[in-house]
Amino acid sequence: MVAYQIMTSLRKKIFFSSSVEQTVAIAAAWTRSLQKGALISLEGPLGVGKTHFVKGVAVALNIKEEVSSPTFSLLKSYQGGEKTLHHLDFYRLEKEEEILELGLEDYLENSVTIIEWGDRFPKFFPTTTIRIVMKLIEGNLREISFLLPDEIYENTSF
Ligand SMILES: Nc1ncnc2c1ncn2[C@@H]1O[C@H](COP(=O)(O)OP(=O)(O)O)[C@@H](O)[C@H]1O
Ligand SMILES: [Mg+2]
Repeated sequence: MVAYQIMTSLRKKIFFSSSVEQTVAIAAAWTRSLQKGALISLEGPLGVGKTHFVKGVAVALNIKEEVSSPTFSLLKSYQGGEKTLHHLDFYRLEKEEEILELGLEDYLENSVTIIEWGDRFPKFFPTTTIRIVMKLIEGNLREISFLLPDEIYENTSF
């Protein structure tokens, strides 16, 4: 695997959200535009809205269950209409070996896998990883940047 950090060709799209509802809507619209399973590293400081973004992903995948932070379980999976959502959080992950034990590569197909704090362990991500970077501007205003590898960009109508 090649770490996403050294990739040269990422296409960037930037959105701004001024409410939880907008973050959910942006996440849902983007997820609907995904044609295949995807691996996403969701980045940004505590409280920026990463888990709320994942709630929007779940809406788009027709998941009825309430999405909550997987901080203590590392991984939570939800069955959607057509795809499964795998929601992970690396915030409390201490050892890189714990990631290998999860066997991530076995469940990427036909699913959307989204990892909060993925940037804590960047070297495990393949070049096809999508990075979503959230920044707190002020108050409820957030910047949401999508960094898409070429092949994903071409398969995404967003
Ligand atoms: N535009 C916004 N998008 C997402 N969350 C927002 C926004 N504005 C305010 N918030 C608040 O920020 C917090 C984000 O929490 P959460 O999604 O758990 O963050 P994280 O997972 O990044 O730690 C929530 O309390 C939410 O109500
Ligand atoms: Mg969170």
